[in-house]
This record gives sequence, C-alpha cells and structure tokens, in this order.
Amino acid sequence: MKVLVIGGGAREHALCRSLSQDPAVSELHCAPGNAGIAQVATVHPVDQLDGAAVAALAQRLAADLVVVGPEAPLVAGVSDAVRAAGIPVFGPSGEAAQLEGSKAFAKDVMAAAGIPTARAYVCTTPAEAAEALDAFGAPYVVKDDGLAAGKGVVVTSDRAEALAHAAACFGASPGPHGPGRVVIEEYLDGPEVSLFAITDGDTVLPLVPAQDFKRALDGDQGPNTGGMGAYSPLPWAPEGLVQEVLDTVLQPTVDELRRRGTPFSGLLYAGLALTSRGTRVIEFNARFGDPETQVVLARLDTPLAGVLLAAAKGTLDTLEPLRWHEGAAVTVVLASEGYPAAPRTGDVIEGLAEADSADGTVFVLHAGTRADEAGQVLTAGGRVLSVTAVGTDLAEARERAYQGVGRIGFKGAQHRRDIALEAAAG
Ligand code: AMP
Ligand code: GLY
Repeated sequence: MKVLVIGGGAREHALCRSLSQDPAVSELHCAPGNAGIAQVATVHPVDQLDGAAVAALAQRLAADLVVVGPEAPLVAGVSDAVRAAGIPVFGPSGEAAQLEGSKAFAKDVMAAAGIPTARAYVCTTPAEAAEALDAFGAPYVVKDDGLAAGKGVVVTSDRAEALAHAAACFGASPGPHGPGRVVIEEYLDGPEVSLFAITDGDTVLPLVPAQDFKRALDGDQGPNTGGMGAYSPLPWAPEGLVQEVLDTVLQPTVDELRRRGTPFSGLLYAGLALTSRGTRVIEFNARFGDPETQVVLARLDTPLAGVLLAAAKGTLDTLEPLRWHEGAAVTVVLASEGYPAAPRTGDVIEGLAEADSADGTVFVLHAGTRADEAGQVLTAGGRVLSVTAVGTDLAEARERAYQGVGRIGFKGAQHRRDIALEAAAG
C-alpha cells in the first residue's frame, strides 16, 4: 500500500513512524514533512492547505490512502479534494471538520444529540460577552469561535483579562460565520482526558485514553499551548470510562453528523473533563491530538495502515478488535524559547542521535525542525520535538523520556518537568 501523510508536526512524525513499521506499507510519503519525517518517508514540498495540489500529488504517487493530520487542511476541505479524485482519505470533509473549526457548531451538534458539555453563550459583541461573563462568574472561560491552534482559549479569574481576550477575538479576521464570534462558557473543574476514536461515519472504534498537559509551565501554570506532554494509560481513570464516552459522546456525535447529511469519517477527538457532576465534553477535534498521538500510537500493536484504510473505505465493522502493548508511554515536548507567544527559530539542535535508544524504547519525534544545507537540524517552530518513551509502567517510561530530553540541547529550549509525574507516583 502506498500512503501519503499530510502535515509536518510530531503527530505526523508519529503517524509516519507507525506506518513505516507496518509491513503492508510499501511506500510512505509526506507533505510537507519535517527533518525527522524525512528519515522515514519521502517528503514533498507541497502546500498542505492546497487541496488541488495535494490531490495532484496523491494521483502522481498513485497513493492508495491519504492521511490528513492537522485541522487546518481538514477545515480547508483538503479531504474533499482528495476524495473527489477517487483516492481513499482518512480525514473528515470540510463540513464535518466544522466540529473543530467552529466551537459554536460543535455546541449546536452537542445540544441536538444530548451530549453533556459546558453551558455556553455564543456572543457577537463585547456587551454580550460582558453579560455572559457575569452570568457564569469566575473562573471565566473565553474561546475564539474559529481555529486558533490551541491558543484561542483563555481561562482566567481576571474579568479584565477575559474581556480583553474577547475583544481580541472580535477584532480577529472574520471566519466562515462572519466577523468574530466568541464562545463564553461555564468553567468545568476536574481532570482532563483525551479520548480518540477512529470512525468511518457509522462504526466507532475508541482508542486508549491519554492525558495532555496544556499549560506552558510546571504545575499547570502559564498560558495555554498546543500541548507540552502526554501519557497513557491513565491509572486513575474510572473503570468503564471508555465505554461510557463511546455510548454518551462518541457514537451519538457520529450519528448526529450522519443524520445531518455530513457524515464524519476520520479521527474524532473528545476532550473531556471528569467533573464532580459527571463527564463533560470540553471540545471536539477532527484529527489526532498532538502530543497525545505520540503516546497512543506507541501503545498500539495492530498495524496502523489497515485501520486507517478501513475508516477511509467505510469497512471498520469488518475489522478485528485493536491490540495494545502492555505497559505505558510518556512524551515530553521540547519547545523554543518564547513559545507560545513568540517562538524563536533557527537554532542548531544537538544530541538528536544520542537521545534515540538503540532498543527503540526512546525515540525523538520532530515537530518544528528543518535541515540546513550542511545537514544540521535547526529549530523551525514553537514546539520543536516530542521525546517519547515506552516502559513497563509510567514511572519507567517517564524516566526514559526525561533521559532522552537530557541528551538534547538547543538555545532557549524549554520543557515541563512534571509530565506524568503525579500519575507515575500513583
Ligand atoms: P480547548 O481549545 O477548547 O480544548 O481549550 C483548551 C484548554 O482550555 C482545555 O484543554 C482546558 O484546559 C481549558 N478549558 C477549555 N474549556 C474549559 C472549561 N469550560 N472549563 C475549564 N477549562 C476549560
Ligand atoms: N493536544 C491538544 C490538541 O491536539 O488539540
């Protein structure tokens, strides 16, 4: 099978790594990729947001499957362009990807399907936003309606800061629904869980839960980011959580989107809060999470390509149950100085080869990296690397991941020191 992966972050490196280990995959391509992906796939300098260019590349390569990683190409309709060219694609249509592309759309789907989530107001003026903030009280949750790479959400007890974020969202460039909309919602307390499911629009196959660390600094301080680390499994999660979320969240969402005539196939990501009043959806994403994918795929034993192809072709109901490795996985993100506000780039990364263990238990996945003419690997984005490790338990995986982190250096590198710390300690 010839597979083309679209994207160039650590999530796509994790996807490419798993696909490259699948004996069913004869050729692996990625566009645009990064310096790490280039070691396991042939990379192509194609604009990932250009559906026609991606479809043309897939046709030229005679790809049997295209896997779209990030949200921006999904929302831009890249899957639709590939599907229209007659090539199976893992990733929802642009319309179905609105589940992530518009927080207001997601709230509407959840209301229609009776899915438990935070109560919310969709606001279009600063006055409405102020009213909504006061209706819920602190802590305030203010979300840009559109895509913001994990940085559109502010959670704060400072009313002025909440209002300022709303004002910034109103002033941002207009989305598909007109000029800036802001979603203000009730604060959900309790631990967060990311649960992914693979779906063909009908059958829903949940993966194993993971936890992400969204804040930039130790102890969940600092600004929200795309994610600074992750681990799986969650030893503290209630028994039956996956089945509960399948029955009350994932399957009803997939059924509702099919009923609307916009079936969702691809990866449905439920971001959940386990509150004292029960499980609530914080957000949906229309693609694999980053960095959770790094740990979820590290635990997956079933070869990946056949699973993604079955979702793309609508035959998930014929698949054998997924198999998982025993043990645990932890990933720690190394980010550039200034991330998330203003990441610096262009610094040489040292120690990459030393960080990968010979036995495959520690491996470095690249995010924002590029190789220069001399073959040096340079930082090229906010999140630079995901140092990932597996072990018999979380403590071992965690220790190995941080050993890997310790071998890598670049100017201004930052990472959290508390990824999986509490969970590993029991
Ligand atoms: P989102 O982009 O919707 O996932 O939000 C990013 C992060 O903001 C989440 O992972 C949570 O940590 C936090 N967050 C979002 N919505 C809420 C909420 N209603 N209550 C508490 N925290 C939230
Ligand atoms: N790790 C959060 C996300 O992928 O949205």
